[in-house]
Amino acid sequence: MKRITVIGTGYVGLVSGAGISDFGHQVFCADINVEKIHRLQNGEIPIYEPGLDELVKRNVSSQRLSFTVDVNQAVRDAEVIFIAVGTPQRNNGEADISAVESVARVIGENLNSYKIICTKSTVPIGTGEMIIKIIKEMIPVDRRFDYVSNPEFLREGSAVKDFLWPDRVVIGATSKKAFAILRDVYRPLYLNETPMVHTNVATAEMIKYAANAFLALKISYINEVANLCEKVGADVHQVAKAMGKDGRISPKFLHPGPGYGGSCFPKDTHAIAELARKKGAPMNTIDATINTNTYQKKRMSEKLKDLLGGHFSGKTVGVLGLAFKPNTDDVRESSSITMIQSILDEGGSVKAYDPIANKEMEELFPNLNYCHSWIEACEAVDAVAIMTDWNEFRGMDLHYLKSIMKAPIILDTRNILSMKQLSEIGFEFDNVGRKVISHDY
Ligand code: UGA
Repeated sequence: MKRITVIGTGYVGLVSGAGISDFGHQVFCADINVEKIHRLQNGEIPIYEPGLDELVKRNVSSQRLSFTVDVNQAVRDAEVIFIAVGTPQRNNGEADISAVESVARVIGENLNSYKIICTKSTVPIGTGEMIIKIIKEMIPVDRRFDYVSNPEFLREGSAVKDFLWPDRVVIGATSKKAFAILRDVYRPLYLNETPMVHTNVATAEMIKYAANAFLALKISYINEVANLCEKVGADVHQVAKAMGKDGRISPKFLHPGPGYGGSCFPKDTHAIAELARKKGAPMNTIDATINTNTYQKKRMSEKLKDLLGGHFSGKTVGVLGLAFKPNTDDVRESSSITMIQSILDEGGSVKAYDPIANKEMEELFPNLNYCHSWIEACEAVDAVAIMTDWNEFRGMDLHYLKSIMKAPIILDTRNILSMKQLSEIGFEFDNVGRKVISHDY
């Protein structure tokens, strides 16, 4: 058992802290946000994440997991320190690593014995070097530490599962000793034969950006294929399915939609593109990925506008789904933001509904008509736009839906409704990449 401190209690920090304590270690989750820590100490989970509540409870009650605002003490007490603070996007596209820098200084001030300093936050390549430099300048010359970059690949909405059953663990360590200690932290995974990839620090940092940017590229690619499918009368789902049967391509992340959102892909694609430009090795594929995604989000509002006769003015739209994907209350960079903004900008109004993200969207759009059910959001509207593929929207009674709307017009940006059923019932509709009604749908 190791004594471990995780600094930062956002998605990555909290899930990692709880997950590592579940591996049998003593974990302190530390954060300077007093309110957040108090909520956690009172058994409240500040984010919506399936399974996290139970994971935290289990480990708090077995006294392996605790929460503290005393970051200094938490650093002094730990053998391994994980940095898991936020790295938001700056206006120029680069990642803002000021929180990481200040944590590095706190660690430097409190480094009372040999420790492993391990970064989990997604940080630009070269940040590891910078952290090592900051700490070295603050400690006596004979005080030792090792640095590790251990990027996290969990997804919001399935974060607990992704953490406990990862495809691989990447450990970019400055020494064999540090690699062995980290492998010990992940002992249950190692025993389960989860691949442990040992690299240097810069390589580990690069793996994280390269993986996220590639997944984003895959989504933008299929979204462009979908747009072309619409023009040539092909069905993007059948195209994606057949493409995915090729093991070299894989079927994952080939689902077309209204453009990717969230706190990772938009930020990380910008960060790697900026870094690449700065280093004189521009990544044209990622620049294109970003442009395609921006266009895809706008294209969704154009599609809806077309369905509504070319304008939003005086129209009321029921927007179903506000989160950037299901099973999360996160609305950051969600395509529903672009949709809502376009409707409002052009004189329309919005009735909005999300099973759990209404409150988060209210911070961005305080004056929308927020509803408590899809039924309420669709009553007497001129059109409905499905923006997030929550299961409850899949199961909507379409006959009933038609009966409560002012006009039977629907834009399904997630392709979750049966086109055959929609057309039989008499809806005017559009989706992404499926203009043709093929026998399957
Ligand atoms: C993403 C990565 O998938 C994780 O591996 C990574 O750890 C994480 O970023 C991070 O860097 O922290 P996340 O942003 O939580 O995870 O969500 P994803 O499931 O990847 O979805 C991102 C966006 O892509 C969503 O808007 C989703 O709707 C969209 N998407 C995803 C598609 O449009 N099509 C797909 O086929 C898949």
